[in-house]
Amino acid sequence: MNGKFPHDFLWGGAVAANQVEGAYLTDGKGLSTSDLQPQGIFGAITPRHEGDSGIKDLAIDFYHRYPQDIALFAEMGFKCLRTSIAWARIFPQGDEETPNEAGLAFYDRLFDEMAKYGIQPLITLSHYEMPYGLTQKYGGWGSRATIGFFERYARTVFERYKHKVKHWLTFNEINMSLHAPFTGVGLPADSDKSAIYQAIHHQLVASARAVKACHELVPGGKIGNMLLGGILYPLSCKPEDLLETQRQNRDWLFFGDVQARGAYPAYMQRFFRENGIQVAITEEDRQALRETIDFISFSYYMSGCVTADPEQYETARGNILDMVPNPHLASSEWGWQIDPIGLRYLLNVLYDRYQKPLFIVENGLGAKDRVEADGSINDDYRVNYLNDHLVQVAEAIDDGVEVMGYTSWGPIDLVSASKAEMSKRYGFIYVDRDDAGNGSLERRRKKSFYWYRDVIHSNGNSLKQKG
Ligand code: BG6
Repeated sequence: MNGKFPHDFLWGGAVAANQVEGAYLTDGKGLSTSDLQPQGIFGAITPRHEGDSGIKDLAIDFYHRYPQDIALFAEMGFKCLRTSIAWARIFPQGDEETPNEAGLAFYDRLFDEMAKYGIQPLITLSHYEMPYGLTQKYGGWGSRATIGFFERYARTVFERYKHKVKHWLTFNEINMSLHAPFTGVGLPADSDKSAIYQAIHHQLVASARAVKACHELVPGGKIGNMLLGGILYPLSCKPEDLLETQRQNRDWLFFGDVQARGAYPAYMQRFFRENGIQVAITEEDRQALRETIDFISFSYYMSGCVTADPEQYETARGNILDMVPNPHLASSEWGWQIDPIGLRYLLNVLYDRYQKPLFIVENGLGAKDRVEADGSINDDYRVNYLNDHLVQVAEAIDDGVEVMGYTSWGPIDLVSASKAEMSKRYGFIYVDRDDAGNGSLERRRKKSFYWYRDVIHSNGNSLKQKG
């Protein structure tokens, strides 16, 4: 794999505030929607009472332990760390006029710590959470008012960190609202399609307003979107399967189309009409949407298949989206189908479609790890997964795709999003904590830690092309 990655490639890892920080009410933070989902992003919305606790309340205590964790990332040679700002630390209820200084000060300390090692922050404004107060008082993104609250929050953090953070993302996996409405747009799970698309529309307008604000306020700043890159293949070459695959891929590409091209794509008119979906879009909204992102970012864990034949349709175990299993692929312990070539394919699809730089901001293997008697953790399965995906990134770069960087998901073990488990581990660094919350929180280097250090150090030249 010699010489394929550009010299300024941003190697690193990605985490999210609600999956690592803990400190869920510290320093004036308000409740966020994530705090009401102790069972994960598909779990029931659970009101909080005094004295209850959930695994995310402490998570891996990154809020207090970040200096040690950043030092470990630096030891691996990270150039970049993706994390998110918890909106409810800055505006605890969401609709305040002035921000919470203690929350702002925390991220100052965090970014300063990263700067000590030359690690660039890549910051998501909203990663699967918003102030719970906004859902209570306004109905979350169902209300137009939330656009203004988000813009105030975005402008506040751009102004505050404009000299420390140059790379920003708006909403994590913005297309997930179609599958997890409370997580994505603060709406009840049983909301109808019109309500969900209206909320999505408000979020798309807010995203574009944040892009504009970033361009105005952050000198040299770049801002991208963030898509769940759920690429789908036709199960067969039947024309009906192909057409259905195109239709289902458009379900998620729609978000990228709006954010990268600045307008609703034509195919949505028919989709809205045939599904009885009404979305109120003003002329002012259309103007706002014209401010487009600088780069596309996405997560990639798996691919899936589509068929037009309902009888053949079955749901792949554990996959986030309903997809037909691909008979040619193996699955992870959580049933996510492993497809490194799919990453090369997806990079090419997105680059062909948008001609904007791409950033892979999540990719990784969730697996159960075993600590050996001598304390070592031999996670060769993780090394293989990541090696094979990175080899395909190198191939895509060779295909001519402009790739800015790669931040693997969960470089340190964290609480999983879908089911709030600790036992689904992604890290190069092991954290001693189990699903019941027991453990010392001690950090330990896995075998993959040394492997990733070598990959970064050699700028990808140590990767192994197999077969
Ligand atoms: C992405 C999310 O969907 O996948 C992350 O952006 C999440 O927040 C990751 O953690 C992996 O999913 P899970 O459920 O294994 O944590």
